[in-house]
Amino acid sequence: QERYICVIGASNWDMFTYCDRIPVIGETIKGTDFKVSFGGKAANQAVQASLLNTKSLGDDVFGNNTLNNFKIRGVSVEHVNIVPGVPSGCASITVDKEGSNNIIIVGGSNDLLGEQDVIEATKTIQNASYLLCQLEVNLKTTLKALSIAKESKCKTILNVSPVTNDTEMLMNMLGCVDILIVNEVELIKLSNDHQVDVENLESVHHGARELLRLHIMVSDVIVTLGAKGCVLVNRLSIDKYQHIKHRDNATMGKPVVDTTGAGDSFIGALAHYLTTSMLPLAESIERACNVAAICVTRYGTQTSYATFLELSPEDQI
Ligand code: RIB
Ligand code: NA
Repeated sequence: QERYICVIGASNWDMFTYCDRIPVIGETIKGTDFKVSFGGKAANQAVQASLLNTKSLGDDVFGNNTLNNFKIRGVSVEHVNIVPGVPSGCASITVDKEGSNNIIIVGGSNDLLGEQDVIEATKTIQNASYLLCQLEVNLKTTLKALSIAKESKCKTILNVSPVTNDTEMLMNMLGCVDILIVNEVELIKLSNDHQVDVENLESVHHGARELLRLHIMVSDVIVTLGAKGCVLVNRLSIDKYQHIKHRDNATMGKPVVDTTGAGDSFIGALAHYLTTSMLPLAESIERACNVAAICVTRYGTQTSYATFLELSPEDQI
């Protein structure tokens, strides 16, 4: 395996509206700011990994500006195509004054990323150390990518976001996943409605254990808990869990202003530590939590991501 990360999925134009609180249906309110920047879960993850000095490969279909953004950020664009006449994916994001958000995505060209595109990237996928997938593009496309990786030694990481109701597809995809990353809602869905309360880590552990029991190919489950860090459960020691959090001074005392894309920052950074630094999973998670803690103190998604030199010395590997 070569030491690079391959990312399959979507990139979007992120349109941010900042407001004191998120309006209810039928309500009109005044916002405090509006910003446009580069986003999309796959693109975000590739950019964060690349900012930490890992060569990533974005694989998507979209506009010239996004292509340029990838190049500037050091993401290889070998398999990125532009489809003439098709609009880019867009995300309409509302952020309240606590930094919490609502996101609506419209797929645009991301919806055209097909199995054939992935087949054409077979070599790139199979030579990679890790393949990162999310659920923002066609599920068939994602399944194809995961199964191509599984025919080689490339390890797979799936972030089940946005969560889907297609349980059959989910089962198939999870048959090709090594490391699964879920939040609380996704954990409930994938653990057969096992009740999970994020305040109670035992219940998170039980949910993750149930998930591992149902999906026998998955080796590790990472349950992300926002500001509370995450829980890691490994199949070989299913009766134990590790609670991992960012270090206390990771945000350097700065307040949380925008949590959008923090999960993507975490996943990109995690892939970097696994691939480039070749650290064990728990240590990689710990450092990725520190990286992601920085971005919530700044506005936007990719624009808020930490660079290598900003990290504390122990995370600079
Ligand atoms: O995870 C955050 C991302 O979700 C945003 O960048 C937006 O584009 C949506 O894909
Ligand atoms: Na941010």
